[in-house]
Amino acid sequence: MVEITAETINQVITGMKSQPQPRWKTSAIQQQQIEAELDSNTPKDGMMRVITRMQFQSAPDLGEIDWDKELASFEKLAYPDYYLQPFHSLLGGYLSERAALGNRAGMEAVLENAHPRKSLGIRDEISQLFPPEARNILDMGAGIGDDAAAIARRIPQSTVTAVEASPFMIIVGHHLHQEVPNLKWKHGLAENTELPDNSVDAINMTYLLHECPDNVKQLILKECLRILKPGGLVVVSDSLNGDLHSHRGFFEPYKEQWLKVNPDKLLRSAGFVGIKTCQITHRIWTRMGYKPK
Ligand SMILES: C[S@@+](CC[C@H](N)C(=O)[O-])C[C@H]1O[C@@H](n2cnc3c(N)ncnc32)[C@H](O)[C@@H]1O
Repeated sequence: MVEITAETINQVITGMKSQPQPRWKTSAIQQQQIEAELDSNTPKDGMMRVITRMQFQSAPDLGEIDWDKELASFEKLAYPDYYLQPFHSLLGGYLSERAALGNRAGMEAVLENAHPRKSLGIRDEISQLFPPEARNILDMGAGIGDDAAAIARRIPQSTVTAVEASPFMIIVGHHLHQEVPNLKWKHGLAENTELPDNSVDAINMTYLLHECPDNVKQLILKECLRILKPGGLVVVSDSLNGDLHSHRGFFEPYKEQWLKVNPDKLLRSAGFVGIKTCQITHRIWTRMGYKPK
């Protein structure tokens, strides 16, 4: 275990303030937002624990990625302002190589004590919540697709579509999960999937809602209700209310709103019924809900 001293904190903060420009430069004010977060007079030990643990996670072999070539194959998406933020104090936020390449190690570090097999163990637990007869499943805000791949492996007769706004995440996810034949990717926004009404059996979303402002949380759940078949299942997992504040140093634009989120109310007011709590780990909450029949 690495000792966290004032000196190591200063070194990390200095490094985070001088990140190289990302391939897609999304907004000039991101640098100031990152510096303000890092300079805030709040303890940084939660952030430091994650950063130090990240170094000890095994890195999956992705081979060589030709970013320019792979990015060129994506259609342009009109990104809303709420998405163009330096999430987790990364320049470019989710629209950066660093976010995508560091995602697995970051989640393994965040969930290190949450399950004996860390984040991948949690993914497997989540996958067990899906009915084996489901054939058309979505994972919203899928990141690099670790949940989507776990669900696809558990239900090989299904097609699991990972809906993700960041091409960087999709590129890394595609390299990571090439061997999962029933995992597909859709580059787009969770609140506007362009899928037909009543066409999906089940939807997963993990760690998506805390990254969105309140009105977008509602739009995403409304979209889920629209595209799910009657009786269809939604599984939502996310950070505990105060958790984002315990990782100060990592820029989280919607952390104040997250303090007030009540998962049951959120799902109920969106129109879901039969809401159940699933206790997977002490580190996240998970709810299952159904579209009325
Ligand atoms: C914290 S990560 C979680 C990723 C993954 N679900 C996991 O559990 O590791 C949030 C992901 O949601 C994506 N995202 C955020 N807002 C989105 C939106 N409106 N539509 C689609 N993806 C979105 C981000 O690009 C990012 O990959």
